[in-house]
Amino acid sequence: MFTRRHFIASAAATLAAPAIVRAQSIWRRYPFSLGVAAGDPSPDGFVIWTRLAPEPLAEHAGMVMAPMNVAWEVASDSGFATIVARGDAAARPELAHSVHVEVAGLQPDRPYWYRFQAGGERSIIGRARTLPAASASPASLKFGVAGCQAYDDGYYTAYRHLAREELAFVYHYGDYIYEYRGGTIRPGFGGGVTVSVREAVGDTLYGIADYRRRYAQYKSDPDLVRAHAAHAFFHSFDDHEIANNWVQEIVDGGATPEVFRVRRAAALQAWYEHMPVRRAQMPRFGDVAMRRAVRYGDLAEIDILDTRQFRTDQPCEDGFKPRCEGVGAANASVLGAEQEAWLTQNLRRDPTLWNCVAQQIMMMALDRRTRDEPAPIYNMDAWVGYEAPRRRLLNRMAGLNNVVVLTGDEHQNFAGLLHDGDRPVAVEFVATSISSGGDGQDVRPGSDRILANNPQLKFINDQRGYITCEVGRDEWRTHYMVMDRVSTPGGAISRRATATVARGTPDLTIV
Ligand SMILES: [Fe+2]
Repeated sequence: MFTRRHFIASAAATLAAPAIVRAQSIWRRYPFSLGVAAGDPSPDGFVIWTRLAPEPLAEHAGMVMAPMNVAWEVASDSGFATIVARGDAAARPELAHSVHVEVAGLQPDRPYWYRFQAGGERSIIGRARTLPAASASPASLKFGVAGCQAYDDGYYTAYRHLAREELAFVYHYGDYIYEYRGGTIRPGFGGGVTVSVREAVGDTLYGIADYRRRYAQYKSDPDLVRAHAAHAFFHSFDDHEIANNWVQEIVDGGATPEVFRVRRAAALQAWYEHMPVRRAQMPRFGDVAMRRAVRYGDLAEIDILDTRQFRTDQPCEDGFKPRCEGVGAANASVLGAEQEAWLTQNLRRDPTLWNCVAQQIMMMALDRRTRDEPAPIYNMDAWVGYEAPRRRLLNRMAGLNNVVVLTGDEHQNFAGLLHDGDRPVAVEFVATSISSGGDGQDVRPGSDRILANNPQLKFINDQRGYITCEVGRDEWRTHYMVMDRVSTPGGAISRRATATVARGTPDLTIV
């Protein structure tokens, strides 16, 4: 906690002190408790982020409700001998004392280091890589894919391992937080009891203060802090940043669209405040322009999709169900007309060797039967519930022979083929959760049935972790990195499988 008077007093002390001595801290507690983060790298820069939060779980995270100056610097070496950019930013109470700086003017395809200073305290050091120039021809790209990190379900040890990987960036597919009530026990699926590995604080999230506090608790996790300090992230969001299985202005629980919009606006503001994203992603009247395209030289384009804000309501009243009439609705949409046109435009043979579609919900039409149900069972919150737009998209991918779809949401690993009619047109890699769902096991009971019922599905695994994608000019390799456990700290990671795709052939082999 600080006051303006303290701040002025300590500033004066700085002037009087020898230059080598740092200003005396005005803080009773460390203000950079949520770490630092970088995001949305481009060939000439990236966003750097922090939030002043001396007491993460306290009201206003322990901050006085006044703006505070935060100094930032970017260096070309980890020792900060050569500072290449520096400046000041205001951490404002309107945005929970978060700071988003869009650093520009940097060199392409190299690492940089950044840090912040406020009130005589320094943040930890973060590292981020710029992307290669659009005109470059990189030999390879390695990036990570992660998401679904229910705090109550397990430790973030997978993030500690992810931090040690050599990566250009991480794509986060969403469910960064979960909006559920905290506590030691929760009703589990099928009526059982789920015991929290560690307790999320607070009740179900509805207002801005609720969402902010949940982010603050999640972001206090040291392994998550490590991952953000190690790599720049491209963030998207899925449902649990706001509420389970919401689309557009529709949510379970009886809220009218007008009422849900209030909650959605609060949640998306808190999302913005805690994500290293650009000004273009700042909420405007409750909406976030989340979709964006990323170019990695001539090697890959990554189209990051928003599969929530523009989607029509789930058919068959949502859930895992047999097909109902609504699945075939001609006016159903997953992306909305504008985003669908944008993606259609981007999916072409040139100018990059690979087209990657980074999104949230499963595109494979998997029959989910694990017992002797009479008819196929589908996940109505996934693309399979939206036959018309799914068919349009897969038809667009046909003939490109360079499309890789990345997915989250499922809390399991999957790898398989996407078909337009009978012909395979793309591959899909579904990345498991960091913690959601708990320890898991190699194969969930009943999954052998799912593999047998779905010939397009080549791999399934039910452990926690993340995936890494090694993209070469002729070959794409996806590594499934899995944790032996997340229910206790110190879990080990190992490579469970690698899926290989040859460019020009929408097929994959699993080793
Ligand atoms: Fe999730």
